[in-house]
Amino acid sequence: PLDPPADPFEVAQAAAADIARLTGVERHDVAVTLGSGWGKAAELIGETVATIPATEVTGFSRPALEGHVGTLRSVRTPAGRHVLVIGARTHYYEGHGVRRVVHSVRTAAATGAKVMVLTNGAGGIKETWSAGQPVLISDHINLTADSPLEGATFIDLTDLYATRLRDIALSVDPTLDSGVYCQFRGPHYETPAEVQMAKAIGGDIVGMSTALEAIAARQAGMEILGFSLITNLAAGISPDPLSHEEVIEAGRMAEGRISALLAEVVGKL
Ligand code: 6GU
Repeated sequence: PLDPPADPFEVAQAAAADIARLTGVERHDVAVTLGSGWGKAAELIGETVATIPATEVTGFSRPALEGHVGTLRSVRTPAGRHVLVIGARTHYYEGHGVRRVVHSVRTAAATGAKVMVLTNGAGGIKETWSAGQPVLISDHINLTADSPLEGATFIDLTDLYATRLRDIALSVDPTLDSGVYCQFRGPHYETPAEVQMAKAIGGDIVGMSTALEAIAARQAGMEILGFSLITNLAAGISPDPLSHEEVIEAGRMAEGRISALLAEVVGKL
């Protein structure tokens, strides 16, 4: 008979034990996944206690993309809270399956984190938005046709992106706009018709991450806060064709400002 596949929660427990051993920090309070454009936040959140390559932690894969750092950091905020900063996202489009995609979130939960902050770079559907603008995620539409939950796990997703945490973010920057994030499978960007579909069903932001991770974080009992950096307007909203270089460049331009915002918000969680 075949060996049963490893239990994903046991793999996450093993990863959390690796993190405790390699960082010397037994428990974390908050976890933050840094998407493209958010990379400077780690230094601003507080003092780095330890930085470890993700490849030394059970279940993490090699980073697929330049601009996705591939490290895990333990950072101590001025208030003494321990923040696990995850710079090693596995995307659904890499094709390793949804378990790999949400492994970092389950690991964060296993380290003790009660709050999961998910950040990403994404396309904007609202014409009033512009490249370089951070927005709060108010809810999501999962268009991957997949789920991190296996079997009869009928969990509620009401207030998935916690109003309580969004209010904290808004207390730091009352001008923050909010929107509904649509996770597409990618890795291609959407057609203009698909962007119109996303708009018609209530979407404001299009991206390739976050929703599956948020579902896993809710399953693990964490509170979730989500931020998108609008790196560009989505196809057909902007008259110009999209390019990955443009997305990376918008991230670079906005990085200092939005990372400072994120660090200030994390300091209040
Ligand atoms: Cl327009 N779409 C998706 N799916 N992801 C993006 C994006 C657009 N712009 C940046 N990331």
